[in-house]
Amino acid sequence: MTDTRGTHPSEPAHPTGSDLHLDLPATGGRRAALMTALREAIRSGRLAPGTRLPPYRALATDLGLARNTAAEAYAELVAEGWLTARQGSGTTVAERAEPVPSGRARRPSRRPGPTHDLRQGQPDASSFPRTAWLAAARRALTAAPNEAFGPGDPQGRRELRTVLADYLARARGVRTDPDRIVVCSGFAHALRLLFDGAAPVLPPAEHGPLAVEAYGLGFHRGLLAAAGVTTVPLPIDERGARTGELANHPDVRTALLTPAHQFPTGGPLHPGRRAAVVDWARGRGGLVLEDDYDGEFRYDRQPVGALQGLDPERVVYLGSASKSLTPALRLGWMVLPDHLVDRVLAAKGEREGWASALDQLTLAEFVDSGGYDRHVRRMRRRYRERRDELVAALAARAPHVEVSGIAAGLHAVLRLEPGTERSVLKAAAYRGLAVEGLADYRHPAVGEEAMPAVDGLVVGYATPPDHAYPAALGALCDILPPCG
Ligand SMILES: Cc1ncc(COP(=O)(O)O)c(C=O)c1O
Repeated sequence: MTDTRGTHPSEPAHPTGSDLHLDLPATGGRRAALMTALREAIRSGRLAPGTRLPPYRALATDLGLARNTAAEAYAELVAEGWLTARQGSGTTVAERAEPVPSGRARRPSRRPGPTHDLRQGQPDASSFPRTAWLAAARRALTAAPNEAFGPGDPQGRRELRTVLADYLARARGVRTDPDRIVVCSGFAHALRLLFDGAAPVLPPAEHGPLAVEAYGLGFHRGLLAAAGVTTVPLPIDERGARTGELANHPDVRTALLTPAHQFPTGGPLHPGRRAAVVDWARGRGGLVLEDDYDGEFRYDRQPVGALQGLDPERVVYLGSASKSLTPALRLGWMVLPDHLVDRVLAAKGEREGWASALDQLTLAEFVDSGGYDRHVRRMRRRYRERRDELVAALAARAPHVEVSGIAAGLHAVLRLEPGTERSVLKAAAYRGLAVEGLADYRHPAVGEEAMPAVDGLVVGYATPPDHAYPAALGALCDILPPCG
């Protein structure tokens, strides 16, 4: 028995003619046109060697050709060596039909990586909980209603917002309900929704400059600059960002902070300053944007709760799965003051265009089933051990190097002698060790008088897989200058 395309139901699935996207000119001989289109698809690499073509009957039906025409075109291309026909396995693109590279030079698919990687910015990729995640995906997709496979709600799946509201209250002290959460594709996306695009929530022209911390991620500064946002750096001291300086900037109404764990210098914002910055936002009718990028990873005592708990109407809480799970997931969440929910939804547009509904359902199931907590606990233990190994290695091999920012997070800061950062980074590169200097994180507009620059390294101790960590630590100790 054959179906309408002439395919036997027991045959393996073949690409159909329309799957091949063959564009046949409307005029001229049909057989020649089909042969030209197939040759072109093979030559350009669109049909790779070994690709199985649909049965000629199916192709003929899809393209509106006579079966003979398609059969003859296949036969001639076999004779020319473009295709191979084997009894029982159909027609495939011949192995030696090498595609001709297009005019553009091909980019090498991957640059060789460093021998040792202690750059901050990602959790240990080898620890992603693949089995538990797959099990959660299976359960989530089995239980998902049919509407979950349609265009997504820009606010995010209710299943995810519901578990996030509970989780964030329990683990981070966030005060919210599911209706004030908007799912996005990570912190960077949240920044874009707030400041960039056709309908930003806080349009730079109306909203004035944004206060940021004197040290932060250059990528985020770049994103803000590209959106036309002027940023005003707040100096940092041992109590975190000097929020009192906000009083000197009457045009600033919004401040972006990392209160739980200043990025990258590492301390929490002092409780007095937490209260003060919320008071400032109330007094100014402004907002605090709270970047809670690694709030779950605190080692020596209870996590520092979210600032948002002090005033949910004045603080926008921004969370992400990038440190707790993986940046590859591209999932994050905004917990919004009531008056901003509709504006953020307007900025997102009518349909969900970023955060996959299926990944959202999987994450909801992962959190709800306790998998997320288990993973975070496991990784907290592991990163704490790594942090301890780093501190022990420095104590043994470079006791003069001060290490800070180690109570929390996935990275530490090593302080270097003034004027040595560049040469240490050069030595690291020579040794095959990827690591970053503090200077990269400093806001270009911070004056020396406001906050003297400090030489240092930002060491991402979570980045390498377990087996590679001891060697990376060894390389780090090798390149640290001896006591001056
Ligand atoms: C300071 C800071 N904020 C936020 C994030 C999260 O960014 P995203 O959710 O866009 O991956 C990161 C990186 O993980 C970060 O380093």
